[in-house]
Amino acid sequence: MRLSFRLIVSLVVAVTLVSILFAFYQVRTDNRTRRTDLEKRAQVLAESLQETVEPLFARGAKANLQRIVERFGNRERLDGVAIYDSDGRPIFTTPKLAGRLGAEPPALDKRVFEGAGWGRFFGADPNEAHVYAVPIHSEAQVVGALAVFHDASYINAQNSELWRDTFTHVLVQMLLIVTITMLMVRWSMERPIARMAQWLHDLRAGATPPNPDLPVEDVLKPLTREVTHLATSLKMARASAEEEARLREAADSLWTAERLRVYQQYALEGSRLFVVSNREPYEHVHRNGAVEVRVPASGLVTAMEPILRACDGTWIAHGASNADHETVDAHDRLRVPPDEPQYTLRRVWLTEEEEERYYYGFANEGLWPLCHIAHTRPIFRSEDWEAYREVNEKFARALLDEMDGVENPTVLVQDYHFALLPRLIKGSRPDARVAIFWHIPWPNPEAFGICPWQRELLEGLLGADLIGFHIQSHCNNFLETIDRTLESRIEWERYAINRGGHITSVHPFPISVDFKESAESSNYHAAALEQSALVRQLGVEADFFGIGVDRLDYTKGIPERFRGVERFLEKYPAYQERFTFVQIGAPSRTHIERYQRLIDEVEAEAERINHRFASRRWKPIVFLKRHHDHHEIEPFYRASDLCLVTSLHDGMNLVAKEYVASRADEAGALILSLFTGASRELQDALIVNPYDTDQLADAIWQALEMDYREKSERMRRMRRIVKQHNIYRWAANLIGAASEIRLELPENARYQSVQSVH
Ligand code: G6P
Repeated sequence: MRLSFRLIVSLVVAVTLVSILFAFYQVRTDNRTRRTDLEKRAQVLAESLQETVEPLFARGAKANLQRIVERFGNRERLDGVAIYDSDGRPIFTTPKLAGRLGAEPPALDKRVFEGAGWGRFFGADPNEAHVYAVPIHSEAQVVGALAVFHDASYINAQNSELWRDTFTHVLVQMLLIVTITMLMVRWSMERPIARMAQWLHDLRAGATPPNPDLPVEDVLKPLTREVTHLATSLKMARASAEEEARLREAADSLWTAERLRVYQQYALEGSRLFVVSNREPYEHVHRNGAVEVRVPASGLVTAMEPILRACDGTWIAHGASNADHETVDAHDRLRVPPDEPQYTLRRVWLTEEEEERYYYGFANEGLWPLCHIAHTRPIFRSEDWEAYREVNEKFARALLDEMDGVENPTVLVQDYHFALLPRLIKGSRPDARVAIFWHIPWPNPEAFGICPWQRELLEGLLGADLIGFHIQSHCNNFLETIDRTLESRIEWERYAINRGGHITSVHPFPISVDFKESAESSNYHAAALEQSALVRQLGVEADFFGIGVDRLDYTKGIPERFRGVERFLEKYPAYQERFTFVQIGAPSRTHIERYQRLIDEVEAEAERINHRFASRRWKPIVFLKRHHDHHEIEPFYRASDLCLVTSLHDGMNLVAKEYVASRADEAGALILSLFTGASRELQDALIVNPYDTDQLADAIWQALEMDYREKSERMRRMRRIVKQHNIYRWAANLIGAASEIRLELPENARYQSVQSVH
């Protein structure tokens, strides 16, 4: 307001000064012109009268002279005429002249009597008058003079009028200026400035308003420029502060291989890490006359491999492949990964019979169906149980051998193949911190109770200091099973079991994958290209496709999934010839009859459904029955429109997490069975009951029809979870919990020499 007031005052003063100057100049010029005019008029009149008067004067025609002076008394602005004798005395005068001049006509300048014309203004305003006199000659002698008197007061009157007009104009101009200026200021300055101010205010308050229409007027340009710079700097400063905070936050919450490596050194205080599992991370096989390395299809291997790489520990596993013997050293060890050695793999050899009974028999025909509620009856044979015990002892010996000379080692036993191992190890090496992670579900006590050797299994497990499951409900089932089976004290408030003074803690550790940010996979177009390439490679023409990746296991719900696809095509026929489902299935445990039957069933279902719907260039199901490496699976994940995980029961299911991790483009939908551990974390998946065929069909439809924004929002949230809860965090939590185990060692139980298990 102050600004506009100052602006108006300056404008008014300037305009007034200019107007007055102009008026002054105008008045002066007009005044001069009018006076000159009057002088000229007076001179013309006097000279014309001179010609008339001179003969009359010479003749002494007084009456005529008198008439002439009287006749010139009634002309406008002419006060009168006077005739003087040669002494300068008026002799004839227009009668009204005396009244006008107040007395005698004024004396004339002597130059008139010397023969020259002469004039002047006289008298004060408002009675100013003008006189012009010429000599009267007679015979070349000046005998008198003739003077013409004009009223000159009108000149000043006109000047005053001009001044009045000028002031009126100035006043009107001022009013106009004030009004226009105020309007202009309001419209062209106050409003845009207020807009700019609001914009800056919003930015400062942390909002991200769109750029307003900034004023383009020249006068505001410097301000606009500065404000725009200021806003840009503010935005940049905020963005970098946010980025910094994000990085700081990410550094706090994100686990990487490097962070795990550093952490485990400090958490384990130099104690070395040993992992025991049945399945080895690298298998050497004879193929086409050469030895090939393969990474087996195993969730456990996917999870443990990055930890061993990070910690340079020792992994003890069954050397089950036909070229494994040829690739180890004298101590049955080799450094892996073969092309970039980072940790030690110690292979344990089993006889065929051992493998048959322990692995195929007790572990996979007994415990596997016992723990998975998938309606396949467990088979328990006593010879299998014997072999299971013996193999556990064999592994214990190998492990003790590896741990020889290593003080306070940390042992992470993996899975249902080694339920007896914790007690065997602990018995020989009480200084070892022993944890076992159970990668499959733990059923309720009734279900577990059908195992004839449940007590021995539980006893063996309770040798561990720590038992990990994927989710809390598996922990609860385990504690309830212990409660009903063994003499012990359950400490529910801290989830621990006290059996004969030894404490075993039981906690959930939801396993995960290595979440790698891949620039390549964040490219939406790359995914589209990949899709068309894959579709071409598979020999089908389809606009959409879904993917399923599993070991061919009856717990994975693959026939149920196929029936879901069939129902989907039935229910939503518009997708016929447009949607293809690709199932990658790695044959697994094929010695077991149930697994062979499953493969037959999966193939038959695929064939039946294809037969029902297929056209010349399209079929609904492509079944790729072979083991695919991770790098072969990735393009399928990235190019698919949806991923189907329909396990009938699954401890976690890492395919679901791998799928999410591979979708950096935030496209793709995950359909996830509610019977997987992963469904507890990935709640943005389309959660389904795989036994409900119609629900599966609808979920496929929903995934394909889902608005891109919703799809990417769901994917983004799931990615955040998998990224934060990656495999390194899982390992860090497990190692952290293991390192917190308090060892209560009797003095004589300290480790001294190589122990053996019999
Ligand atoms: C599951 C088990 C693992 C096992 C994997 C593959 O993920 O939890 O222990 O390694 O299946 O099965 P396989 O019998 O081929 O090792």
